[in-house]
This record gives sequence, C-alpha cells and structure tokens, in this order.
Amino acid sequence: LNNGLALTPQMGWNSWNFFACNINETLIHETADALVSTGLAELGYNYVNIDDCWSYVKRGNKEQLLPDPKSFPSGIKAIADYVHGKDLKLGIYSDAGKFTCQVRPGSLYHENDDAALFASWGVDYLKYDNCYNLGIKPQKRYPPMRDALNSTGRQIFYSLCEWGEDDPALWAGKVGNSWRTTDDITDTWKSMTDIADKNNKWASYAGPGGWNDPDMLEVGNGGMTFAEYRSHFSIWAIMKAPLLIGCDVRNMSSETLEILSNKEVIQVNQDPLGVQGRRILGEGKYGCREVWAGPLSGNRLAVALWNRCSETANITLKLPAVGLDGSASYSVRDLWKHETLSENVVGTFGAQVDMHDTKMYIFSPAVSAVASI
Ligand code: DGJ
Repeated sequence: LNNGLALTPQMGWNSWNFFACNINETLIHETADALVSTGLAELGYNYVNIDDCWSYVKRGNKEQLLPDPKSFPSGIKAIADYVHGKDLKLGIYSDAGKFTCQVRPGSLYHENDDAALFASWGVDYLKYDNCYNLGIKPQKRYPPMRDALNSTGRQIFYSLCEWGEDDPALWAGKVGNSWRTTDDITDTWKSMTDIADKNNKWASYAGPGGWNDPDMLEVGNGGMTFAEYRSHFSIWAIMKAPLLIGCDVRNMSSETLEILSNKEVIQVNQDPLGVQGRRILGEGKYGCREVWAGPLSGNRLAVALWNRCSETANITLKLPAVGLDGSASYSVRDLWKHETLSENVVGTFGAQVDMHDTKMYIFSPAVSAVASI
C-alpha cells in the first residue's frame, strides 16, 4: 500500500502470542519500558501492538468503541501518549467483521468512525482480523478500512490479518502494508516450518510498502529449542517477514534476547532493497538440508543454511545455485558468529549445521588486493 509506510518490514511487539486476553495498561507500559531498557527499541522494534481484548464487549451509546474499563481504565490515548514519550509507536486491533475473534465489537460497517477514533487517540498501526466476517470476501471487507484510515490524515500502518484467505498476495498489495499468508502460528517446530513453507510460495509479491506476513514470532515462548528459535528468526528475517516479538519482553532469558537482538540478522530483514529471500535448495538430494537466499543492497547476498533433518548435517552448495559467479571470490560474513571467514570463498561453500539449526551468512564480492596497486 502506497501510504509512505512499511518501506521495510515492520518491527515491534504484539501481546497475542504470549498473553492472549490477559492484557492491561500496566503490561503495555512495562513492555514499552522493557523494549527500551533491553536495547530492543534501539534495534528497530518500535511498534507496541495491543491485540484482541482491549475493548469493552459493547459499543457506547453513540456506537463508539470503548476501552475495557477494568483493564484499560485510563483509555487508549493515555497509553499512546506514554508510548510516544518513549519514542515508540502504538498499535491497536480490530476486526473486519461483526465481532473480534474474542467477541468484542468488530469494525465492519463502522470503518470511518472507528478509524477516526483510533486516529484521535494517536494510534499508529492497525491489525485488522477476520472473525465473524458474515461470509463476505476479504477483497470487499478490507479496502473500506484502508480508505477510512487514509481519510483520517494520520499515517497508520495497515496490517491485514485475513489468514491467507483468497491468496492475499494476489490482491492485498493495494490494500495493506502487510497481509497474513497463513493461519495462526503456534509455538512448535511443526507449525513454524509449515508456515515458512507456505509463506515462501508468495515471495515474488513482497516489496517496499507491502509484505507477506507469516505471523508473529514465537521466540522465547518455550515450545522450541534454542536452535529452532534461531532458525525461526533467521528464516523470518531472510523472508522479509514482519519481526513482531511475541514473548514477555519483561522476563526474557539471555538466549532469547541474544536471538532477538542479532543486529546483523535484523539488517538482512531491514535491507532497503526489500526483496524476499526464498528456498533455493531443499528438494531431491538435498531433502531436509535447505538453502535459502535473497539479494541485498550493495551487490550482496544473504544465505541461510537450514538443517531441517533430525541429525547434524553438512550442507554444501555450488555458488551458481544461489546466483553467484562460480569463478569469482567472495568475502563471507557469519551472522551468528559475528565474524568474517578468514579465507575468501570461490566456487563452492558449505558448513556443518546442528539438527534444526540455521547458519546465516552475507556474501560480498571480495575486494581484490591487486586492484589497489
Ligand atoms: C486470530 C489472529 O490470527 C491472531 O493473530 C489473533 O489476533 C487472534 N485472532 C485474536 O483473537
């Protein structure tokens, strides 16, 4: 969507994956504080997104949406002010249907009033869900909210949450800044890998202004190993997925923080070229040994070696397989070890990767020593 936003995939935090309906204004304040104190905010995680359950079960007597008086007694504007005071942005949630999934009022046929209200509160982001949709096609239900947000005059990121209904990559580029390509992620290896596969199919439709959304991160929620979370984060990054943290950032382990704050992997995700990386190898003789790659600005290439086998594996490739020159010399940076390999790489490349883990690299044309003489 050409609204000046989403030039790179959105980054931030969302309440749903860890807290579901157990949310309140203290949690949002503390999360904003934690994003700043952990250094995550400075790394680019700037949206603080409240998901379902913030609103009261009924509209007010002027049909307006009301924050739940028990959990959000100070109202959403006060939270927006707090979050803005920390140089962060506030996201809210509604639904392109009669109700939200947790049966709060939906915004279908209330688009203009609700968008105006969100804007008056200082909201910067809307996630727009798909429950109780009366069987109306998403192509009909999502554009009215785009137009309503646009006419508020406030820049509001528009995140479609239509669960991949009717292949959104084919129509949502003019509607939203991101669109979900799948149903909900859960905190398991199986869910994460299935979703990566589904999202991969739509790679060519992503770009600045509109991104495929394979759902929010589960890193730190406990259902996967450190290696599996490292793979989750690496693949989401190379796929140019939104990086929306879904854990309790007030209580993270050092391992979780290490993954989420890998600056070099974040830079792959936020590269200005904005081309979604994809699986290049992983069929036939490669099987569960996968190679994903995507171009970066400055004539560089991001490469991920993802071991989906149930044992340690050597993953090797001939450089032309990922579009590199088979006779040229490349300088290779390891983004998880944070070191540049001592030898330049020519022709083939490979590494041993632990079960379910991912190694990630940037290949850059080597600067020839001869040229400078
Ligand atoms: C379904 C969405 O896909 C989830 O991300 C979450 O927003 C829930 N609904 C909330 O009810």
